[in-house]
Amino acid sequence: EKGGYDYFMLKEIAEQPKAVADTLLGRIDAAGSLTLDEVRISASELREVDKVVIVACGTAFHAGMIAKYAIEHWTRIPCEVELASEFRYRDPILDARSLVIAISQSGETMDTLMALRHAREQGSKVLAICNTNGSTIPRESDAVLYTHAGPEVAVASTKAFLTQLVACYLVALYLGQVRGTKWGDEIGAVIRDLSQISGAVERVLETMEPVRELARTLAHKNTVLFLGRHVGYPVALEGALKLKELAYMHAEGFAAGELKHGPIALIEDDLPVVVVVPSPRGRSVLHDKIVSNIQEIRARGARTIVIAEEGDEAVVPYADHLIRIPVTPTLLQPLVATVPLQVFACELATARGNEVDQPRNLAKSVTVE
Ligand code: M6R
Repeated sequence: EKGGYDYFMLKEIAEQPKAVADTLLGRIDAAGSLTLDEVRISASELREVDKVVIVACGTAFHAGMIAKYAIEHWTRIPCEVELASEFRYRDPILDARSLVIAISQSGETMDTLMALRHAREQGSKVLAICNTNGSTIPRESDAVLYTHAGPEVAVASTKAFLTQLVACYLVALYLGQVRGTKWGDEIGAVIRDLSQISGAVERVLETMEPVRELARTLAHKNTVLFLGRHVGYPVALEGALKLKELAYMHAEGFAAGELKHGPIALIEDDLPVVVVVPSPRGRSVLHDKIVSNIQEIRARGARTIVIAEEGDEAVVPYADHLIRIPVTPTLLQPLVATVPLQVFACELATARGNEVDQPRNLAKSVTVE
C-alpha cells in the first residue's frame, strides 16, 4: 500500500502534483472562471462579507497564513488568521458579515471544531476547507470546499498542505470574482498560472536528490533555522515544523526582517540556515532585502541553504547550497518552495533513524483540546 516507497510520507510527497491537479479539477471552467458550486454561501452573502477570519492548527495554520496574503491582495477584504486553540478564548469580534474559514485535513481537530462552533454562535458563516469527506468539521460548517489530496496516512502533513493552499487560493479568487474587485486582470492571469502549477511541483520533485544528500550531511546538527519574507515566512515556519516533528531537532522559522530584532544573535559558525527567497520579478524590494539578509548571516558564519527561483543569479555568491525552484508568481510560490523542505525533513529523520510516518508523541488527528 506504500506503492513501492519506504514510507507513506515519501509516497504522499510524490503524489503532490496529482493532488494539486485533482483539487483544481472541475473548479475552473473553459473561460477561466471559477465554478465553486459547493460553496453554498450565496454570491450576495459573499458580497456582504467585511472580514475573513481563518482558524486552523499546525500545518493547516501555515496554509491559512499564506491565504491571508492572497485574500487581502486579491480581494482587499481584511483577513485575520489565528491559531484555533487561541481563538475563542480571547472573545473575538465576529458577526454575520464575518466569513470564517476553518482549515483541517482530518476534519476532526478539536481545537478547530471548537473555534468554528464559537464563530457560528456569533452568527458568522463558516466555510470549511477539508480533506476528509463527511468528517465533523465540514458537517458542522455552512459550506465546505474539499481538498482532493486522497487519504494522508503519514502524521506529517505534505500533500494535504499543498491542496489546502490550492483551496485557499480558489476561495480568495472566487471572492474576488464574485465581488468584482479592481484586480480583475491579475485574477485572470493567476487562474491561468494556477491551472499549470501541478507541472511546476512535478519539476521540483525531479530535482530533489541534492536536497537529500545535503540533509544526510546535516544529520548530526542540533539546530536549523528557516527564514522567509512575505509568503515565504509561513513556508519557513512550515519547514521548521516538519523538522521538529520528524527529525526531533530544534528548528525555528523567522520572518527575515526580524533577524536584527533578536534572532541574529543565534547565528554561529556553520549553523545551517534555510532561506526562502521571493521571486526577483514582481515585488523585487522583497528580493533585495532578503539577499542582504543572506549576506548578513553568512558574514556571521551561517551555512546558507538558499531556495531560489531558476535564473535568480543575485543569490549565487552567498549560497553555500542552492536549491532551485521553478519561476512562479509570488503568491503561488509556497506550492513549489515547500516541497524541498518536506524532502529535507524526511531525509534528515531517516538519517537520524527516526520513525518517519509515526513520529514520537504525535497523532495524525488531535481530537482533544
Ligand atoms: O487535521 P488537521 O489539518 O486539522 O491537523 C492540524 C494539525 O494537527 C496538523 O497539521 C499537524 O500540525 C501536522 N502533524 C503537521 O505535519
